[in-house]
Amino acid sequence: MRYLDVGDGVEISRIGLGTWQFGSREWGYGQSYAGQEARAIVRRAVELGVTLFDTAEIYGFGRSERILGEALGEDRESVFLATKIFPVLPVAPVVEQRAVASANRLGARRLDLYQVHQPNPVVRDGTIMRGMRALQRVGLVGEVGVSNYSLDRWRAAEQALGRRVLSNQVRYSLADRSPERDLLPFAESAGRVVIAYSPLAQGLLSGRYDRDHRPANRVRAGSALFLPDNLDRAGDLIEALRLVADAHSATPAQIALAWVIRHPAVVAIPGASSVGQVESNAAAAGIGLTDDQYQALNEASARFRPVTGPAALSGLLRARFR
Ligand SMILES: NC(=O)c1ccc[n+]([C@@H]2O[C@H](COP(=O)([O-])OP(=O)(O)OC[C@H]3O[C@@H](n4cnc5c(N)ncnc54)[C@H](OP(=O)(O)O)[C@@H]3O)[C@@H](O)[C@H]2O)c1
Repeated sequence: MRYLDVGDGVEISRIGLGTWQFGSREWGYGQSYAGQEARAIVRRAVELGVTLFDTAEIYGFGRSERILGEALGEDRESVFLATKIFPVLPVAPVVEQRAVASANRLGARRLDLYQVHQPNPVVRDGTIMRGMRALQRVGLVGEVGVSNYSLDRWRAAEQALGRRVLSNQVRYSLADRSPERDLLPFAESAGRVVIAYSPLAQGLLSGRYDRDHRPANRVRAGSALFLPDNLDRAGDLIEALRLVADAHSATPAQIALAWVIRHPAVVAIPGASSVGQVESNAAAAGIGLTDDQYQALNEASARFRPVTGPAALSGLLRARFR
């Protein structure tokens, strides 16, 4: 495993583990996954040196936090535990009470990273950051983070908090490179971290799926990326991943992760549906892409133009009512 030094003697693994899948109906992995496989995934991740574990109060309505906390056991104290508040009522007393509830579900004395899940569209961050400040003062929260924030709003959150907001968790993969515009340069120059979610584009970049083999669950049925036309369009990118993968005796998924964490300010939190996947994902931290390979992947990704927005809507509706 490789680690990112975030200051104050704290290092976090470049490949973490995302746990939206744990206990969430929308991923459709079922009871034995929530009851057994998820635990085995966490235990194996710890063995492999993964220290960044990401969850949220809304994942499975608290079930993900419970499953993760129970699986970590005493290791809760030595890993970097990250959870999120969904800011429906972002006033300081609510933030404080929700942090305590998350810590209780996780069985943790401290939340190493407490993130605002997404910007509240009507309430600015002054009130939520007042709660965060109080939580940091009493030691329940280590670092504050945000998620799905623009650069302007990330900076405004820092101003409201009065100290660094360590990270911004955003979608970042070869299928969506928008954070490169301003978030990555800011993070690199200011010593902040971009936590890449959906680094495998929810499995698309593994190359397992095509128009005749589409994943069946609510998350991906609702994603334009998995429409048959877009799966066709992704063929060239998957082929580019395969070529690089062959050169490293690796898989396309591993190369997709190695590409994401090649940027010095980025860590990735892939989810996993099996222990085999978590092993493969952790091993991706050891893959060093050459400049030529990195460039070839950048070019293939620039050629990938999925149908999105209103143009994709009719396909999504057809898929939903089929
Ligand atoms: N902050 C936010 O708003 C936000 C939003 C989304 C996600 N997240 C966080 O980010 C985490 C990861 O994002 P995500 O789950 O959306 O997408 P992802 O990590 O890109 O994709 C995860 C899925 O890819 C497949 N996969 C994983 N490893 C693989 C491997 N080695 N080989 C082949 N397939 C593999 C698995 O699905 P199959 O095996 O079923 O194909 C797995 O469920 C989440 O768990 C969550 O913690 C945060």
